[in-house]
Amino acid sequence: MNPDLSPDQRAALLEAQMTLDERIRIVHGVAAVRFSQSPLPAGAVGSAGYIPGIPRLGIPALQETDGPLGVTNPDNVRPGDTATPLPSGLAIAATWDPEIANACGAVLGRQARRKGFNVVLGGGVNLTRDPRNGRNFEYLGEDPLLAGVLAGETVRGVQAEHVISTVKHFADGQQETGRKQLDVRIGEAANRQSDLLAFELAIERGQPGAVMCAHNRVNGVHACRSGDLLNRTLKGDWGYRGWVMSDWGAVAGIEPAINGLDQESGEQWDRQVFFGEPLRRAVQTGRVPEARLREMVRRILRSMFAVGLFDDPPISDAPTGEDGALVALRAAESGIVLLTNRNAILPLPRTPGKIAIIGGNADAGVLSGGGSSQVTPVGGPARTIQLGGDPPLNLTAAMVFDPSSPQRAIEDRAPQAELHFDDGRYPRAAADLARTSDYAIVFATQWMREGQDAPDLSLPSGQEQLIEAVARANPRTIVVLETGGPVRMPWLDRVAGVVEAWYPGARGGDAIADVLFGDVNPSGRLPISFPVSQAQLPRPEIAGIDTSDDTPFVVDDNEGAAVGYRWYALTRQKPLFPFGFGLSYTSFRYSRLEVAGGNTLTIRFDVENTGTRAGADVPQVYLTNADGTRKIRLLGWARLALDPGQTRRVTVTADPRLLADFDPAAHVWRLNPGAYEIVVGHSSVAPVLRAAAHLAGRTIKP
Ligand code: BGC
Repeated sequence: MNPDLSPDQRAALLEAQMTLDERIRIVHGVAAVRFSQSPLPAGAVGSAGYIPGIPRLGIPALQETDGPLGVTNPDNVRPGDTATPLPSGLAIAATWDPEIANACGAVLGRQARRKGFNVVLGGGVNLTRDPRNGRNFEYLGEDPLLAGVLAGETVRGVQAEHVISTVKHFADGQQETGRKQLDVRIGEAANRQSDLLAFELAIERGQPGAVMCAHNRVNGVHACRSGDLLNRTLKGDWGYRGWVMSDWGAVAGIEPAINGLDQESGEQWDRQVFFGEPLRRAVQTGRVPEARLREMVRRILRSMFAVGLFDDPPISDAPTGEDGALVALRAAESGIVLLTNRNAILPLPRTPGKIAIIGGNADAGVLSGGGSSQVTPVGGPARTIQLGGDPPLNLTAAMVFDPSSPQRAIEDRAPQAELHFDDGRYPRAAADLARTSDYAIVFATQWMREGQDAPDLSLPSGQEQLIEAVARANPRTIVVLETGGPVRMPWLDRVAGVVEAWYPGARGGDAIADVLFGDVNPSGRLPISFPVSQAQLPRPEIAGIDTSDDTPFVVDDNEGAAVGYRWYALTRQKPLFPFGFGLSYTSFRYSRLEVAGGNTLTIRFDVENTGTRAGADVPQVYLTNADGTRKIRLLGWARLALDPGQTRRVTVTADPRLLADFDPAAHVWRLNPGAYEIVVGHSSVAPVLRAAAHLAGRTIKP
C-alpha cells in the first residue's frame, strides 16, 4: 500500500505473498448475471463479470461492467438501476473530437465507480470492414487513426476516474455472423496497417489496464490463444504491460495461458473453467511454467495499482445518472452529420407552420443498439419493443428507445407550429398527412445489435417505401436517420434534407431538434463510408451467412489494409457519402498551406469561416502519394469552432507509421525516402489544397 513504489514494484511485492490457490483464484471469473437460474455470486455487484478479491491480502474484487456506451444492467441484475446512455460509438467518432471522447469516458468511469465497479469493458476499437456488422455502432468507424485516437481518449477518460478500461476485441472481430466460427485471413503487413494499428494507437494513448481478446480466429488461430497476437505483437512489440482477458466464452483450453491470455472471463460460457483446476494441475506438472502463472497475476495486479483500484476504491452512493446527460447532449450535437440540405431547407424557421412528424417512435424517444452494450436509461426506456429470439441473446432482443422524444423537443423549439405525429406504419396515411403539411420529417430507424449482422443495407420494415411515399406527397421532406451504421438511400434524390443522428443517447431528441432549428450548427463528419449498395463492398455477401452455427469458415480480407475509403479509392468507386463528409450551415475556406518534411510531415494551413453563422469545422489532411505510389491515408485533422470571418491556423504532425509500410520480413515500419504528397480537404474525396515535401528514409521499430 505504499504509493511511492511503482505499480510494477507493488504488484511484484503483493504477488510474491500469494499462494498457488490465490493465484489461480484471480485468473478466472464468472459472468455476474443470474445465469441459468443460479444466484449471483456473493460479493458481486452484478453485471458483466466478477473476480472475487483476496481479503487476506487486501486485494479487491474485480467488479466488471460493460461499456462503452454507459454502465449496463443486463437482465436487470441490479433491480431498477439505470445509467446515462451515451451516444453510440459512431456518433462519438463523428465528432472527431478527442475531448468529447474523453468526456464520455469520464461519465462512464464516474458512473461505474459510483455503482461499485472498478473495470469497464470498453472501448471497442475494431475497424468497420463491413457496414452491416451488428456491432459497428459500438465501434469508432473505419480509420485506424481516428478510431485509435478516440478509443485512447475514451480509455483515458474512464481511467482518470480510477476505473480500469478494456480495449476490445483484439483483434479483427469484424462481423457478428458466426463470430466464433469466423477465421479472418489477413496478411501481417495489412493487419499492422489497419486493424492492429487502431489498437496500437489506442493502447499507446490510453494505456488501458486490460485488453479483451476476440471470439474469432485470425489466420487459423483463435485470437485468445494466438501467440502471434498476444505475446509477439501486443506484449512484445508494443510492450503492453496490462493484462489480457478473454471475451465471454472464448476460451477452449489452457494453451491460451501459454500464448499470452492472462484471464478467463465469463467462464460459465466455456465448456469448462479451464483457468481453474486444469490450469492449477498444468502448473503443478510443469506444463504451464509457474513463472507464467505468476506473470499473469502480476499483470492483473499491476493494472489495478496503476489505475488506482487499491488507493481509490469504488464508492457506492447510488448516483442517478443525471450528471452525464449534458455530456451526452454535447456529444450527440457534435456528432450529428448533415448529409443533404437542398435549397437550404435546414435550418427550419421558428414559425414553420404545420409539421408532420412521421415514424421512428419519434413521439417517444430515440433508438439505442442492442447487446452487451445496451444501457437501461435513467427514467427507464421510453418504449421497448420485444423481438424475441433464442437465449441468451433474447435477453437483449428488444429495441430500447431512450427517453428523449424528438417530437417533444421540436414542440419546445417551435411552440407556434402545428405538429402532427403519424407512426408511419401505413405509408398512405403518412403521405396524406405530409401532403397538407409545410414540412414532413421522417424518422427512420435501423436497429442493430451484438450477435447479428444486418443482412443488407436497407432501412427495414418498409421504411424505404414510407420515405418514398412521403417525399412524393411533400417535396419539403427531411429524413432523420437513427441507424447503427450506413444505410442505402434509393430515395435520396426525392428528399430535401438528410440528417444522420446515429443512436444519439440520453438527450438525443434535443440534439436532433437543435440541429434542425439551427440552435446547433451541424459539425459531425462521417467516420465511415456510406456505400451506394452492397455491390461496392469488398464482400458483397456477408461471409458465413449460409453456414450453420458451429461450422468454421474463412473470411479472406483480400482488401488488406484498404479498409473503407481506402477501398473506394483503390477500386475507383464513388460511395454514396464519403468518409469525412458532413455539411454545415456556414462555409469554410482553407489557405496558406505549408508542408515541412524531414523525419515526418508537418502540415500547416489556415481555416476561415466564410459564412454568416458560427460553426465548427473538421479540416482533414490525407496522404495521397508516397514516393511515387498512390495512397490515401488520413494523417490528421483539427476540429475548430470559428465565428463568422474568423481565421485560425492549424498544425498537423503526421505519425510516421501512417507514412510508412510495415515490412513483415524485416519486422519494421519502412519509410522510403522521397516525395510525399498530401491534400487538405473537406472529406476523403474533396481535396482543396495540395503540397508535397521530402522525407528522409528510415525504419521504425514496431
Ligand atoms: C461481448 C463483450 C462483452 C462481454 C461481457 C461478450 O459477448 O462480446 O464485448 O464485454 O460479452 O458482457
